[in-house]
Amino acid sequence: MAGNSIGKEFVATSFGESHGKCIGVLVDGCPAGLSLSEEDIQSELDKRIPLGTGIVSARIERDVVKILSGVFNGFTTGAPICTLVRNKAAVPAEYDAMRNLPRPGHADYTAQIRYGGFSDHRGGGRFSGRVTVALVMAGSIAKKLLGLFRIEVLAYTIAIGDVKLIKSMSVDEIRRDTYRSPVRCPDLSSSKAMENSILKVKDEGDSVGGMIECVALNVPAGVGDPLFDSLDADIAKMLFNIPAVKGVEFGAGFKSAQLKGSENNDPYVIENGRIATLTNNSGGILGGLSTGMPILVRVAIKPTPSISKKQGTVNLLNMEEAYIQVKGRHDPCVVPKAVPVVESAVAIVLADHMLRAGIIPRVLKEQK
Ligand SMILES: Cc1cc2nc3c(=O)[nH]c(=O)nc-3n(C[C@H](O)[C@H](O)[C@H](O)COP(=O)(O)O)c2cc1C
Repeated sequence: MAGNSIGKEFVATSFGESHGKCIGVLVDGCPAGLSLSEEDIQSELDKRIPLGTGIVSARIERDVVKILSGVFNGFTTGAPICTLVRNKAAVPAEYDAMRNLPRPGHADYTAQIRYGGFSDHRGGGRFSGRVTVALVMAGSIAKKLLGLFRIEVLAYTIAIGDVKLIKSMSVDEIRRDTYRSPVRCPDLSSSKAMENSILKVKDEGDSVGGMIECVALNVPAGVGDPLFDSLDADIAKMLFNIPAVKGVEFGAGFKSAQLKGSENNDPYVIENGRIATLTNNSGGILGGLSTGMPILVRVAIKPTPSISKKQGTVNLLNMEEAYIQVKGRHDPCVVPKAVPVVESAVAIVLADHMLRAGIIPRVLKEQK
């Protein structure tokens, strides 16, 4: 199975399966001299599970991270950093009955074809949302690194099904309230309506999707490697590697197709002695390079494939049509768990490109 590493300078390699022994990530290329502890990674991992609500799967396990290499006396050494969490709450037997009945909307059928039946099917194996734990661990290192350059990446839910966040939120509100909300929406009244819509589909044995917005602040102008490693192309690729992501747009995105040039262009102005733009329809990227304005990206997430409603499938053993009602512990909506994953995905790409642009040095002397 190739395709498990991403990045050129800050290279993250994901390993582990949903119901295997662990989920881990190997980060190669992190500069020496970054102060890094297990607590830095743990606090990001804890954001994945909105505890105390009925909106996430019953598979609630606190993922406890261990750093196995690459950190000495509290600082990164420049060597590969291996971090992992052990899987504890896995119940593989839940999947035996469905082994030959591919779940509609999940990767069971395509994985069977691609890997000739050898891939670990339990809980979706490598195709489980659980594998995003690796992204969050790598993302927490990237975020810490970017923080030294005042770069901040914030993601939040803007829609669950047809319940939308309409209010525009300040950066302070997003920072303060996103993780107070079980659905990760910083407007707490929209959050309640979103939570109710998830509980409603859960009662119906169904699922719902949604939208996440992500903003990266203080990214300097001129970061990216066009043509084929454009900043937007690399961010989009990373985001599409998150399971269940079905759409990505920057700035005005798909709406820009309906705008005139005079409406879509972002006029330049001088703000506090620096070049800025009046609007940000470009989403902070032009020609594959950052403009210095906030990078703004939105992600569409589909409804969770595993639902307990009866659906048509095919029995792969006898090639007969069959029905499936998915048992096991599944989230009726994966959007809340995906919010820190989106933040991490964007942070990893930014760390990689900041290193490639030479803005982040290979040794962080000023840390000590
Ligand atoms: C954080 C997260 C959690 C997920 N949890 C589940 C789940 O509990 N059940 C499920 O069927 N799919 C879940 N998914 C989605 C599937 O992994 C995904 O739809 C599947 O691998 C097929 O890939 P695709 O939708 O990108 O084509 C989750 C996705 C994410 C990002």
